[in-house]
Amino acid sequence: MSEKIRLGVIGCGQFMSRQHIQTIARSENLSLYYLADQDRQRLEQVSSFYKPNKTTTQWRDVVEDPDVDILVAGIVPKFHPDIVKAALEKRKPIYVEKPLSENLFDGKAIQELSDQYDVPVAVGFNRRFAPVTQYMKKAFQSADRPITIFYRICDDDRIRPPSQNWKKQDRLLIEIVHIFDLLYYLIQAEPVSVYAVESRFNDALITIKFSDNSNATILSSSWGSLAQPKERLEAILDRASMEMDDFVEVRSYGKTGLSAKQCFPGRAYDRCDNSHVEAFAADGWAAMLKMRQFYYRAMQESGVLEDSSNMRAWENAKELLGAPPVPQVNYTSDKGWGIALEEFCERVIEKEKPANAGPVDSNRTIACAIAARNSIETGKPVVLSQSDWTV
Ligand SMILES: NC(=O)c1ccc[n+]([C@@H]2O[C@H](COP(=O)([O-])OP(=O)(O)OC[C@H]3O[C@@H](n4cnc5c(N)ncnc54)[C@H](O)[C@@H]3O)[C@@H](O)[C@H]2O)c1
Repeated sequence: MSEKIRLGVIGCGQFMSRQHIQTIARSENLSLYYLADQDRQRLEQVSSFYKPNKTTTQWRDVVEDPDVDILVAGIVPKFHPDIVKAALEKRKPIYVEKPLSENLFDGKAIQELSDQYDVPVAVGFNRRFAPVTQYMKKAFQSADRPITIFYRICDDDRIRPPSQNWKKQDRLLIEIVHIFDLLYYLIQAEPVSVYAVESRFNDALITIKFSDNSNATILSSSWGSLAQPKERLEAILDRASMEMDDFVEVRSYGKTGLSAKQCFPGRAYDRCDNSHVEAFAADGWAAMLKMRQFYYRAMQESGVLEDSSNMRAWENAKELLGAPPVPQVNYTSDKGWGIALEEFCERVIEKEKPANAGPVDSNRTIACAIAARNSIETGKPVVLSQSDWTV
């Protein structure tokens, strides 16, 4: 590629500044051309380090700039549909963070516009691109059906600062859409029904049946412990089985065609202690556990877990995390963020079809999230049909 692809980025909050902006800054093919955030102080802070050509507090400026080749957006999700529709009206490809929309009405409108104008939209279901997922996929592809899966994804949401209170809303929509997509991607069959129960808000079990008779149960909770690795998959693959821990280790039993144990390196971050990258490659789950427990102690002893609105507690946490600090613990394993964005941008510029999840995939996950919430409210399973998420 002779010239770099000029990206217009909307949002430079916690996730965007650590993931997509760092991916762009490291890439040989991508350049951070335009950066927007409504919070001027935040915008200046991030810009002073990553030095975009242009900045603005108005996201529409970025969409309308003729020199921007591709848009990347991730702010508070309620704004995503307007940004994506505006991008499509300008015929600009866009990579948007999950959730693309909070309802199927907006999701289907975006699907229609993207098809009508033949302009690609990628949704940030990065787990598809995680090295661990690509590795597990080989065993899923060769396994006879049905497959049975248990997936745990748990957080402690006391860690969220007040500016991120929006992340404490329904995690089915905000977080579990990732897992609905990952299960679809691994099983390669459509979901046909959902049954869910909730012990208390955001503390749930969700069971999904797929069209090939496979079943998956997700344990989703915001009431977990930071000290425990966040995600785990267990799969029964017809006289064989597999366990995956937090995107750093996969163990295989029986004829999966994979080695008994495989560990994966972590992801590195600017201005951080990146010793976890090699530690995960060498020791997988055990190294992740050590990292989690260190991080948990820092958040506990600093007072953040007691009161995340206390700025003094965050200062204490900074000191306890070291200099340079260890990165935010949920980002330490490689969940495919960088590869997902690079794949989209490079394919789009070459006028090829990107392998990323698109609007239909997003709508499938929104349909699952809505069905799970309905099931919790009614106590009954909810039947799904492909017409729920396709135009
Ligand atoms: N793929 C993943 O693994 C992953 C992980 C975390 C977050 N996310 C997604 O990334 C997105 C951003 O998350 P975050 O952690 O950066 O959130 P955040 O709350 O830290 O930051 C949000 C930013 O958006 C800005 N903003 C809000 N409304 C705006 C508007 N109208 N115009 C311009 N800027 C506006 C805020 O000023 C803030 O800087 C969300 O959609 C979230 O779901 C994805």
